[in-house]
Amino acid sequence: MSTYLFQLSDLHIREPGRVAYGRIDTASFLRAAIESIAQCPQAPSALVITGDLCDFGREQEYVHLRELLADIRCPIYLLPGNHDCLSSLRLVFPEHDYLGASGPAHYSVAVGDLQLIALDSTVPGQSFGAIDQEAIAWLHDALKACGDRPVVLAMHHPPFLTQIGHMDEIGLLLGRAELAQLLGQFCNVERIICGHLHRAIETRFAGTIASTAPSPAHQVVLDLNPQAVSRWNLEPGGFRIHAWSKSAGLVTHNMPVGKFEGPYPFHAEAALID
Ligand SMILES: [Fe+2]
Ligand SMILES: [Fe+2]
Repeated sequence: MSTYLFQLSDLHIREPGRVAYGRIDTASFLRAAIESIAQCPQAPSALVITGDLCDFGREQEYVHLRELLADIRCPIYLLPGNHDCLSSLRLVFPEHDYLGASGPAHYSVAVGDLQLIALDSTVPGQSFGAIDQEAIAWLHDALKACGDRPVVLAMHHPPFLTQIGHMDEIGLLLGRAELAQLLGQFCNVERIICGHLHRAIETRFAGTIASTAPSPAHQVVLDLNPQAVSRWNLEPGGFRIHAWSKSAGLVTHNMPVGKFEGPYPFHAEAALID
């Protein structure tokens, strides 16, 4: 039996009829992503959305997001990012009780054979992220409660430097070392999955693999010059499938959003055509 944890990130949904950054129709990009997810041969066991769900955290943006997500049949797990407002999110998604009623939205839920643990890294009113001592203590208890179940840890701000200078300035600025120290004590954290970067990035962190997912809409321009200015572009958007099986472990697949030519069979006769 396999588990397919799908990940979307950084939707930046606005009110109906409004666009992000003056020109990005983020709702239509999300519709296309949902269509691409529906075309996947494997149905999601659950979908986690790793923050920046809406652009300004306004109630009407969450109402729009709710409408856009309405046709998804699998369980959906939401995480706040720095563009979100947790009280508006809780208000518009009251049945998402894993978000809690107050305080940070940390939670731990079972998704098939995996345990999805979400750590709220947001700091109200700030773009950067932080993990304080209370969050570390909460995570310690949550990890302990998992026993040897494979864990996927989700957070909006990645706990590693990406070499994209302007994004590292608003990355996880507090609690990185404490998080690394804690995770080093557990060998069942299969992956740390994040958002915020609007790009697909992987690196080693505290003995596990940490990653960020692309946005289905706009991406951060890849420029590793430390002085590079913050810019976005419309490189193909994407989502990720974290596929678990007992024999293969956790394998992450990156999927672009869109319709593409093919598929064509690898027929033996076709291989002989010059
Ligand atoms: Fe974002
Ligand atoms: Fe963000």
